[in-house]
Amino acid sequence: MNIQIPQYAFIGLGAIGFETSQHIHKHLVSTGGKPLLVHNRTLARAEALKAKVPDIQVAETIKTVAEQADIIFTCLLNDAVVKDVIDNLLAHGLKKDSIIVEQSTIAPDVSQELASKVERYGAHFVACPFMGPPAKARVQGLIILAGGRSQVLEEKVLPILVPATGPKVIRTGEQPRQALQLKLTGNFFVTSFVEMLGEGMTLAQASGIGQDKVKDLMDGLFPGTLLPMYADRMNRNTYENEIHFPLTSAKKDATHILNMGKEYNTKLPITELFLSHLESVHKEHGDWDMSSIVCQLRKEAGLKNDGSKP
Ligand SMILES: NC(=O)c1ccc[n+]([C@@H]2O[C@H](COP(=O)([O-])OP(=O)(O)OC[C@H]3O[C@@H](n4cnc5c(N)ncnc54)[C@H](OP(=O)(O)O)[C@@H]3O)[C@@H](O)[C@H]2O)c1
Repeated sequence: MNIQIPQYAFIGLGAIGFETSQHIHKHLVSTGGKPLLVHNRTLARAEALKAKVPDIQVAETIKTVAEQADIIFTCLLNDAVVKDVIDNLLAHGLKKDSIIVEQSTIAPDVSQELASKVERYGAHFVACPFMGPPAKARVQGLIILAGGRSQVLEEKVLPILVPATGPKVIRTGEQPRQALQLKLTGNFFVTSFVEMLGEGMTLAQASGIGQDKVKDLMDGLFPGTLLPMYADRMNRNTYENEIHFPLTSAKKDATHILNMGKEYNTKLPITELFLSHLESVHKEHGDWDMSSIVCQLRKEAGLKNDGSKP
């Protein structure tokens, strides 16, 4: 009988969730657990996952997840969507004592407010955002940042997330908001690297040295890091067709980072610059990849979008 075995569920099969849900499912099944129950707003995405992993279970509605799941991972677009989905779970009979493991990048205060709401309802809420792009999610390479009650995290959440989604967890404390604060600090570094690369590549290109030489330099100086990866995207001008992280999501993150800076009287001029370059490119071209912020720097240096001279 399966009565004691908890039912895990996953809501949000986007670029990240599509990958991590498969690993969570395989881990559960290989350790004697029940198949994962997955839900996505656009059902076709859940059906595509089921076609790839036939024994995964699809929940067509949030209500099914609320009624059946004991532990629910959520990985969703932004703050408004996360609030909406959690309200829906509460409104549709979420089990008392169940656990919501929120993994999206949202404002720390929103995470904390949701935790209070869920706890008042009689269930549990922990925040486990992560560092790493979809390519890392595909190879179980994410870094998990975990905030919330130790007992909840240690018993039923972290033993699944590590190793299923990544090899490393950083515990941030008993409050969910602390995990989001570390996540935003991590994204401060990522967005700052992108801004710095855009500036350096534009300088090399405008001076005639060539942005391709900067790419070679990054390969040699910082192998295996984000720097050669973003330098490559800027050098090959792939931002229009290869959307790894859209400008709208980067804008959400930069705005959260700046709000955190204001709250703690910390000046973040690189993030301010990054956001203004991002907004210019977004206004002119639409929702390109984050690496496209280099286009605004090229424009200011009198270069064309691809870095060539007019
Ligand atoms: N991609 C990265 O490199 C990365 C890295 C670290 C953290 N994150 C964070 O992880 C989260 C997910 O990122 P992602 O790249 O997987 O995003 P994504 O590919 O855009 O997926 C977004 C997910 O949210 C769902 N969604 C959007 N609007 C919705 C609505 N109104 N109601 C219900 N569901 C809705 C989407 O469902 P549909 O399929 O129906 O649209 C999809 O499942 C974000 O908070 C992001 O900031 C991303």
